[in-house]
Amino acid sequence: MKETRYLIDVAIETYCEEHTTEESDVLKRLERETNITTLMPRMLSGKVQGKFLSILTSLFKPKNILELGTFTGYSTICLASELPNDGHLVTIDKNPEIEDIARKYFKESGLADKIDFYIGNALYIIPRLNRQFDLVFLDADKERLLDYYKMVIDKIPVGGIILVDNILWNGKVIDKKCDDKITKEIRMFNDFVQLDERVENVLLPFRDGLMMIKKIIE
Ligand SMILES: C[S@@+](CC[C@H](N)C(=O)[O-])C[C@H]1O[C@@H](n2cnc3c(N)ncnc32)[C@H](O)[C@@H]1O
Repeated sequence: MKETRYLIDVAIETYCEEHTTEESDVLKRLERETNITTLMPRMLSGKVQGKFLSILTSLFKPKNILELGTFTGYSTICLASELPNDGHLVTIDKNPEIEDIARKYFKESGLADKIDFYIGNALYIIPRLNRQFDLVFLDADKERLLDYYKMVIDKIPVGGIILVDNILWNGKVIDKKCDDKITKEIRMFNDFVQLDERVENVLLPFRDGLMMIKKIIE
C-alpha cells in the first residue's frame, strides 16, 4: 500500500520537494529546531508550501499581511521575506511556548522589524487591528474558521487575497462517516465561501488543501 501524508503519496511529496528551490539556511535551522523541540512539528508549512507562499507574495506584492497561526514562524518568514521595504506583517498565535523560537528566527532572518508578533487568541486580537490587509493567511484553529473569515473579509480591500490551509482535512470533508466538529466546520466554511458573492475562490488540492479567495466586491 502507498504511504501517504495528508492526501499525497509520500514518494510524490518527496519528488516535489526535490524539485523546489532550496530553503534558506535560516529556514532549515528553524525546521530542525521545530522538529527537536515541539510536540507537533508537522504543523510547520515546510519547503514546498513555504516557497509557494513566498513566490505568491512576490507576485501579488501585498504591503500588509495578516497571518493567523504563527507556530514557530516558518510561514511567517516565507511571507515576510518578499515584502517591500515599507511592508508589514502581523502574525498571531495563542501558544506562548513558541514565542522564543519564533522571535529568534525572525531576528536571524533579518525580518524582525517587519513582523508584529502577538501572543494571544486571534478571535480577540483581530477586532482590535484597525488596519487593512492585502493578504491574509488563515492557519490557526479550524474550529472557528468561519468566524475568522467573517472577521477578516471586511479588513481586506477589493482585490485582496485570503489563503486558508488544511481545507481538505485529510479527505474527511468528503467522507460521509466523518461528523466531528472540525470536519463539519470546514465543510460549512467551504460551502459558505462557495456561495459568497463578494469573492472568487479556488480550492487547490495542494498538501492538505489550500483555498485561495479573492475579494471582488465590497
Ligand atoms: C498549523 S499551526 C501554524 C503553522 C504555521 N503557519 C507554519 O506554517 O509553520 C497552527 C497554530 O495556530 C495556533 N492557534 C490555534 N488556535 C489559535 C487561536 N485561537 N488564536 C491564535 N492562534 C491559534 C496554534 O497555537 C498553532 O501554533
